[in-house]
Amino acid sequence: MNSKRKIPVAEPAIGEEELKYVTEAVASGWVSSAGSFINRFEKSFAEYCDSKYAFATSSGTGALHLALESLDITAGDEVIVPTFSFIATANAVSYTGAKPIFVDSESNTWNIDPELIEAAVSENTKAIIAVHLYGHPAKMDAILQLASKYKLSVIEDAAEAHGALYKDRKVGNIGSLGCFSFYGNKTITTGEGGMIVTDNVKLAEKLKLLRDHGMSSKQRYLHTILGYNYRMTNLQAALGVAQLNKIDSLLHAKNQIAVKYNKLLKNIPGINLPTENEWALRSTWLYTITVDKDIFGKNRDQLMVFLDSCGIDTRPTFPPMHMQPIYNTGQSLPIAENLSKIGISLPSSVNLLDSDIERVALAIKTFYDSN
Ligand SMILES: Cc1ncc(COP(=O)(O)O)c(C=O)c1O
Repeated sequence: MNSKRKIPVAEPAIGEEELKYVTEAVASGWVSSAGSFINRFEKSFAEYCDSKYAFATSSGTGALHLALESLDITAGDEVIVPTFSFIATANAVSYTGAKPIFVDSESNTWNIDPELIEAAVSENTKAIIAVHLYGHPAKMDAILQLASKYKLSVIEDAAEAHGALYKDRKVGNIGSLGCFSFYGNKTITTGEGGMIVTDNVKLAEKLKLLRDHGMSSKQRYLHTILGYNYRMTNLQAALGVAQLNKIDSLLHAKNQIAVKYNKLLKNIPGINLPTENEWALRSTWLYTITVDKDIFGKNRDQLMVFLDSCGIDTRPTFPPMHMQPIYNTGQSLPIAENLSKIGISLPSSVNLLDSDIERVALAIKTFYDSN
């Protein structure tokens, strides 16, 4: 099997249109954060999310940080986050001086368990970040209900969930602010990059200031608040415009990959397929399964090593953030702790061939049969 090409977990789908637009941006001389592609990308992305405003940023992490800053979250405040997420979710909170408060996940959606949020609320709590992890929407109604009870803001971390639907609504425009990532392995990419969407005009005005060093829109070099440089470049936005033009076909292709994997893996004992609640339309970012070692006969790590030896790249699920050395809260959050040990993302690029998917599934079956 080693003689075949290594199948990566995620590769961007960059085509002719991307090349054309980036070339156009380069040729125009607008290589930094002014230029027509920025406005085009923001406008189209706002439309795509059914949001009024969209602000392109240099990364998804920067988008989260700006979103928190726009809500005036600062030292002494607390922000509730799911422990089962990529570290950026908590780090963005820490950048503001506030404290991330970690909450366990639901075992089916893998997202923050709304039933556990209330116990984490204190007099210092200012916001909840709902992460739509691995493309499955979080339970927004329950989260919004609690937020309204305690007068908290809700930020959606939709970095992994472009195009996912929560009860027919696009994720990102359900809370006060929604944040996206366009890192190279995401559903659409700008190399590095992010976006914040909101319907709130006050937050929109603040975001614009914060993204550009707090510089007044009326007077150049007049800085009214402490801001940042989290601007996206026109080159990145050119890539983004081309990617967004084909997002429906990319999402469809990803969905087809999930359908194929589901069909091939469903009868392998101990392999649990991704789930989808009846109120959700998940957007497959990375196709991620779990391994029940008592039934499968080997654990997740052993499966990863075996697949690697077959020329198949995989990724483990995120370690829970409350156990990361920088946070290390000493909490016991068992669902997330378990999911982080048993989850494995399989190759999920849109350019996967059917034969690649078959090769991955066959390797997993072969490993199971070797018990
Ligand atoms: C859940 C989540 N939040 C935030 C981010 C941060 O995005 P970026 O890498 O663009 O800074 C990522 C991804 O990388 C992510 O997966």
